[in-house]
Amino acid sequence: MKLAIGNDHVAVEMKKEIIAHLEQKGIEMVDVGTGSPESFHYPISGYKVARMVADGEVDGGILICGTGVGISLAANKVKGVRACVCSEPYTAKLSKMHNNSNIIAFGARVIGIETAKMIVDEWVGAEFEGGRHGTRVDMLTEIEQTQDLKAAHEG
Ligand code: RB5
Repeated sequence: MKLAIGNDHVAVEMKKEIIAHLEQKGIEMVDVGTGSPESFHYPISGYKVARMVADGEVDGGILICGTGVGISLAANKVKGVRACVCSEPYTAKLSKMHNNSNIIAFGARVIGIETAKMIVDEWVGAEFEGGRHGTRVDMLTEIEQTQDLKAAHEG
């Protein structure tokens, strides 16, 4: 498995620890930055990771900023990306099983490193269930591609 990871200035240390944690498990990590504590615009790393995920260069992505909100919003602007921000492992796991999330995001100002490790472990270990969840994820793609949803006009 190969994952891209990106962050802003708030999350440099947490990012390093998450990389080390996942590399220990044999996962190849591509770090798009930032490696500096200087103020950094989170959309840059959010976009870089999202682009790699959408282009199929990696199997998924991890994004960390202060809250996980800004960086996941940036990633979700890229077509084909389903970035989920969460603060606990249950949502991380279900975001893959039910929503087929291809990026997980969290906040270095919100959670501690042990919770962050649990989040990435659950997310990496989960699999999309498909079935009725696939129908719903297809609807997300329809909204993204057409800015409309046929099912919303039925009944
Ligand atoms: C940086 O101060 C902060 O705004 C950023 O890390 C993130 O929390 C934005 O959503």
